Amino acid sequence: MKTRILPVSKDSILEACKILQQGDLVAFPTETVYGLGGLGLRLESVRKIFEAKGRPSTDPLILHLPSPDLKRATESQVIGCPISEFSKILATRFWPGPLTMILPRGSATPREVTAGLDTVAVRYPAHPVARELLNALQEPLAGPSANRFGRISPTDARAVLQELDGKIPLILDGGECSTGIESTVISLADNTPTILRPGAISAAEISQAIGCNVVTLTPSLEEKTPAISPGTLTSHYAPQTPLYVSTRPIEYFDPPYQYILFTSKNSPSLPHVRFLTREGNPEVAAQSLYRILRETDSLGAPAILVDPIPDSPLAPALRDRINRASSGTAEWRNGGWIFTARTKN
Ligand code: TXA
Ligand code: MG
Repeated sequence: MKTRILPVSKDSILEACKILQQGDLVAFPTETVYGLGGLGLRLESVRKIFEAKGRPSTDPLILHLPSPDLKRATESQVIGCPISEFSKILATRFWPGPLTMILPRGSATPREVTAGLDTVAVRYPAHPVARELLNALQEPLAGPSANRFGRISPTDARAVLQELDGKIPLILDGGECSTGIESTVISLADNTPTILRPGAISAAEISQAIGCNVVTLTPSLEEKTPAISPGTLTSHYAPQTPLYVSTRPIEYFDPPYQYILFTSKNSPSLPHVRFLTREGNPEVAAQSLYRILRETDSLGAPAILVDPIPDSPLAPALRDRINRASSGTAEWRNGGWIFTARTKN
């Protein structure tokens, strides 16, 4: 199959709709990362998503809703009852935006979408192209990140092509994603709102909106209870080059390793050193993270070393992604790097 990349226009969005309505897949931009879209209520499309990504059928998909109206989604049986007060508050406060809510599954949502779970993940994205597409379709679009399973999520059309060339007919090119890391995933399926995946919308913001503390699922808990969020394995988002997180801010830059530093302040500009942000801005760091991981991964270095991420509201999300991509930690000792492998699940 030939994969085309089309710049966003009225015509290309219409073309994307046509392809989707025929049961095929289209990669589309969201504010977080590019999604691999297929009609979420149609089995044929859902199966194609799992196949194109090489994703195990045990890992559920997110449905991108055609509107932020939760009542409409329950009426059409995409999500089931009851929908909690918390979800109404969060939808009003954070949609459109990078927040995914886990709610009861409605009878119209195929079990394949939710990997057999009685819950379904839904979000209403902020990217104008995603919204235009959803508005034209008027039905939910299943959309996992548009990468092959276990690889780094794509934040521009070229990265999608690297991942899925020949596997899908169309990529809508809407430029670089602004957030750069996947949405915050929060489970509202029981009485304890629980963050399953940290993202740009922080636990503090959510807690403030609903007036009660949300719990964040820690990786160790996650490993013991994989069924809670089957897709959030610790070994995820991995580059092919082994990546190590330095235990302290990096001060030694010997080749042949590649270095990814948080900021350019007090850091040398060397060919094998990249900065997530020149100014120490965590939002810029999140936006550039996957692009820089992809670029450094393609250079054939024996290892990539990453600075520790300083505290900020985005730190939990950034650390989560970097830790998942990592093979372990690195420490400078006696004139050389000592690598300590992490045990992966
Ligand atoms: O920002 C995003 O969320 C992007 C864009 C394209 O919208 N999508 C995305 O989808 O990151 P994906 O499939 O790569 O990640 C979805 C995550 C997975 O970790 C999956 O296991 C979890 O959400 N998930 C989906 N449905 C779930 C459910 N019913 N219960 C628990 N976790 C669920
Ligand atoms: Mg993904």
